[in-house]
Amino acid sequence: MTDRPTVIAIFGVTGDLARRKLIPALYSNYVKGRLPKRLHIVGVGRRDWTDETLIEHARQSLREFATIHYNESEWRNFKSCLSYSKVNLPHTETYQNLKDHLATLDNGESNRLYYLSVAPEFYEDVVTNLGRLDMARENGRGRADAAPPWRRIVIEKPFGYDLETAQSLNKAVHAVFTESQVYRIDHYLGKETAQNILFMRFANTIFEPIWNRSHISNVQVTVAETVDVGTRAGYYDKSGVMRDMVQNHLLQLLSLIAMEPPSAFDGHALRNEKVKVLQAARAVRLCDTVRAQYEGYRQADGVPPDSDTPTYAALRLFIDNWRWKDIPFYLRSGKALQSKTTQVNIQFKRPPNSIFELAESGDPSRNMLSICIQPDEGMHMTIQAKVPDEQIAKSVDMELHYEDAFVADELPDAYERLILDAINGDAALFIRSDEIESAWKIVDPVIEGWENDRAAPPMQTYRKGSWGPCAADELLDREEHIWRISCFDDGK
Ligand code: BG6
Repeated sequence: MTDRPTVIAIFGVTGDLARRKLIPALYSNYVKGRLPKRLHIVGVGRRDWTDETLIEHARQSLREFATIHYNESEWRNFKSCLSYSKVNLPHTETYQNLKDHLATLDNGESNRLYYLSVAPEFYEDVVTNLGRLDMARENGRGRADAAPPWRRIVIEKPFGYDLETAQSLNKAVHAVFTESQVYRIDHYLGKETAQNILFMRFANTIFEPIWNRSHISNVQVTVAETVDVGTRAGYYDKSGVMRDMVQNHLLQLLSLIAMEPPSAFDGHALRNEKVKVLQAARAVRLCDTVRAQYEGYRQADGVPPDSDTPTYAALRLFIDNWRWKDIPFYLRSGKALQSKTTQVNIQFKRPPNSIFELAESGDPSRNMLSICIQPDEGMHMTIQAKVPDEQIAKSVDMELHYEDAFVADELPDAYERLILDAINGDAALFIRSDEIESAWKIVDPVIEGWENDRAAPPMQTYRKGSWGPCAADELLDREEHIWRISCFDDGK
């Protein structure tokens, strides 16, 4: 751990993400002794707060959302790291306050992590203003015998609204920060079990030989949520499920599943392989897509009564390379569904010659590997076993549950891992500019087709608390596939 002082400046500290996730994640890391010893956390916001207001805000946030036991003496130490600086994001002159404040803390000698947890329309303002005030340059003052203090920026999703806006944001960011200083967050990559996809594939020898089109029939990624649009209509109705979930979380999971083995577990090697997967995706045909809205969405607070924003999407996608050619990857995600679950299901092919009678017919008889990202994190392998006292085979599950195998503690929140990685300069779990742009190249034509192509499949509706529209089942029926859900009993 570095002995250089480190400043973490959270832009948008008064917002929801900081309250629910960032402050609790910093506190957890602090209590676990993982943050630099000489630490300053500077909350940056537009409101007329004082240091005391921020401290009270942080205390409330921890009372409500701390993932680690709240402890009065740890809290006393932690709160002494906190201070507040008022900045009006579009106004360059107000950044001088922040610059002066940071200088009083560290005399320009500390490492600095700027964390952008503000509305996306302000990303460019913040980056440009940091550039104008020369706050991103790394050759600042440092000890002659040590590397100069670093400057890094963490940028939340959504990164752009489409390919064009993502490219223009990348351009604005690169005018001030080099790519190696930029950490674009997709919090799904910080989830323990999403990272476990890599460990499972590349720390074992048994999966990789069968991880291809010769043995796998289809791959399914399901990210189902029970929550509806809630109070987020202002943001959500402009985004919809493709921009909110598919462009980022689902395509990231897909790239972990489909990538070639990287030569090392580092940001360069890993992201080179991930981006190749996205670049090899065949253009999605509109007839391979389903879009839907849950009943009652248009009546939700802040949603226009004629909104055509999809809250559910299902897609069939192909990766055109030697490993995956013509193997369907089915992706689906929706709000207001029956269960909250994120899982990847790898369906293997049937035995070429079946000599046993099966207790069930169709797809359930296949081997399936389920990677349960959340909840009940773990892995399940469905195999066929002989039913005692009968000459038939039945599907049974071999199960790994994280909570049984690793009893020690609750799993850390994704933000804990990601903040720590950014401080330690490990970019492996962050999205590179070419990945962001490649992902937009996949989803943009689908969104554009839905909005403007008269041949696009019509918007479906689905009942709240269901598993989505029937059209999503029909998408798989064509190849006699069915959506599979493992890892809990009430699944479909
Ligand atoms: C966010 C989306 O990125 O991910 C939300 O903006 C969604 O709409 C959330 O609810 C889901 O995250 P998690 O970690 O609860 O699965």
